[in-house]
Amino acid sequence: MRLWLLHPIAVHLPVALLLTGFAFHARALWKGDGEWTAPASRWLLWLGTAGAWAALGLGLLAERTAPHVPSAWEVLGEHETLAYWTCGVFSAVSAAAVWSARKGEAGPRWGRAALAVLWLAGLGLLVATAEHGGRLVFDHNMGTAASAE
Ligand code: HEM
Repeated sequence: MRLWLLHPIAVHLPVALLLTGFAFHARALWKGDGEWTAPASRWLLWLGTAGAWAALGLGLLAERTAPHVPSAWEVLGEHETLAYWTCGVFSAVSAAAVWSARKGEAGPRWGRAALAVLWLAGLGLLVATAEHGGRLVFDHNMGTAASAE
């Protein structure tokens, strides 16, 4: 079985969930009416973070099982490092969101604004991780039929 094909299934989860979650968080912060957008954003954050860890795990599996392409090694190493940073930052944002949920509306607005800034930094790392992943496949043919020839 070509186990490296499991990784591309998982990578879309964090991208979709964490971007949508950020939009809800920003709306709740901006409008101040987070009755349903605030809890929705937290659930998207927690699920997206779990998705990022799943993508990381399946990425390590892909690294071990996909036919190796020497020209891709440098980008592969950067991709892996960026993935660890992405998961680390979103784990911190998720923990901060637990604290924010406990405080509810009584929580300080600056706390939710700081969460948004950290979330945005995580999204930057996530996009950089995904861009490096795309380069592995589309620039270096990693995991494609062309590299197995
Ligand atoms: C947050 C975690 C991660 C994200 C969001 C992510 C994202 C991506 C994306 C978007 C692609 C291109 C898929 C395609 O166009 O078909 C890719 C490919 C790849 N990634 Fe990751 N990745 C992550 C973690 C990792 C880790 C930790 C490794 C281990 C070094 C890894 C190894 C690979 C490999 C070998 C490929 C090319 C072969 C394949 O798709 O299975 N990834 N990644």
